[in-house]
Amino acid sequence: MKIIVRPLDQIAALVADDVQALLASKPDAVLGMTTGTTPLTTGIFQELICREAQGQLSFASTAFINPDEQIGIGPDHEQSYYQYMKRHMLDELRTQPKEWHIPIGTAADPIAECEAIEAAIARLGGVDWQLLGIGINGHICFIEPAPSLPAKCFVTPIAEVNRELYAKDYGSLADVPTHAITYGWGTVLAARELCLVACGQHKADIVARALTGNVTPELPATIVQIHPNATIILDPEAASKLDMELLRS
Ligand code: PGA
Repeated sequence: MKIIVRPLDQIAALVADDVQALLASKPDAVLGMTTGTTPLTTGIFQELICREAQGQLSFASTAFINPDEQIGIGPDHEQSYYQYMKRHMLDELRTQPKEWHIPIGTAADPIAECEAIEAAIARLGGVDWQLLGIGINGHICFIEPAPSLPAKCFVTPIAEVNRELYAKDYGSLADVPTHAITYGWGTVLAARELCLVACGQHKADIVARALTGNVTPELPATIVQIHPNATIILDPEAASKLDMELLRS
């Protein structure tokens, strides 16, 4: 696990350098995307869009894959991750990626939708690079804390702490979906490279626990500790409670 601490305004370039280097050596790489506020506040998506516009990188041969979606929310719903990706990334690109996979929240059979995501990953030869955020309860993707976790994509209840967080976007808590489709813990572990990004003081406690605590499904982000190729990029606020000595030992 490599931990990099950088001012917020340097994080996007760092992540985009990583993607650009990967695409230079493997133009048909499979890129795992993520949603949430982090790709926007850091400017990661904007930086990728700019580099694509300037011809520094191209997604024309790549496949994008999104790890999660809220159940009951269709691709045309403003709060869907489908729309998020269109709005903040895909509609801004000059050339669309060769493929894009995201679970459909209104699929008649959500379990089949989970299987379709795993099948797409298998057909594409695995995820080369997976961008991750971390939730305030330590979730990654929609893998919420639990006593045990499935390895493969699954249907999960959304933790109440997160539903309450999303209520402002939906207008009321009652309108926030209760379940989601998400990667499994093993789906994350199987990606060849993880890039977890966190910023802000409100992430400091959970980042410290995720990176230095015992690896446990009760804090799903701890899995980055045992991934063979994980880079954690933090701004100084998110890193402020990390015991760097502990990490060196
Ligand atoms: P955030 O969400 O980027 O909005 O903080 C991260 C997450 O919940 O995984």
